[in-house]
Amino acid sequence: MAPLSSPEKPNPKRLRLKKSLRSLIEFGGGDQIDQNQFQSTTRKLYDGPAGAVLYLASKLSLHDPLVGRIIKTRRFDVTEFRSILDIGSGAGQILGHLLRETHPEARLVACDLSHQMLKRARNRMDSARPNYLSADLTKLPFRDESFDCVTCGWVLEYVSDPRDGLSEIYRVLQPGGSLFLLATEDKFSGMLNSRTWKCRTYNRVELKQAFEDSGLPWKEQHWFTPIHQFLRLGGIIVEATKPLEAEAIQSL
Ligand SMILES: C[S@@+](CC[C@H](N)C(=O)[O-])C[C@H]1O[C@@H](n2cnc3c(N)ncnc32)[C@H](O)[C@@H]1O
Repeated sequence: MAPLSSPEKPNPKRLRLKKSLRSLIEFGGGDQIDQNQFQSTTRKLYDGPAGAVLYLASKLSLHDPLVGRIIKTRRFDVTEFRSILDIGSGAGQILGHLLRETHPEARLVACDLSHQMLKRARNRMDSARPNYLSADLTKLPFRDESFDCVTCGWVLEYVSDPRDGLSEIYRVLQPGGSLFLLATEDKFSGMLNSRTWKCRTYNRVELKQAFEDSGLPWKEQHWFTPIHQFLRLGGIIVEATKPLEAEAIQSL
């Protein structure tokens, strides 16, 4: 578990260096990607063979079991939620953990940009409980305050401006509701991953600011294991809460 106030401070020199590295290594050169083009590349990627091996890849990279551990050990506690949206559900990696660990009557909705990924997730889940829906993170087809929890694993990297995704998540979350989000960080390994999975990466400090701008202050930063935390590996894993109305007014 990491302290709430991160010791990291924006360091302009380091940020500039990282930006140059990103433009050299990262897919699309960082955040210079046109959103429409980005979406069609993403849909093609996940509808195709890369999407077909996504589940295996997340097992081999240990991402899937490590996320499962965070949920199972209740570091991110899902047991009290009653309506959960899993955005960019992919092959249903997070969804599978939610099925096992949430209340049996909790409503589960899985959405994804790729129809093929939705099919793959549905085939893999041995349950009629989740609803599957084709939807874009930046235009979610749900009413305001529909969910008390949103999970979003490695999806925000497919949005040029994170605020476009985060403001939608804010809108569909109930006040007091929780967001559990994982994102690829602008470390060397993250930048290489971004080439394979044709996504962007995020700088931790900048992403934290984007959350704050979207009304979703970070509640906690998670790490897969103490080793990941020590080496600062494994990417950005955060829990954010939509403030209750009274808290939001107080902070004005
Ligand atoms: C790297 S996979 C992540 C899968 C899963 N969430 C996990 O935790 O492993 C990214 C998924 O997000 C979906 N995706 C990408 N951009 C999206 C968007 N704008 N809206 C909804 N889903 C999107 C992709 O189709 C893909 O299935």
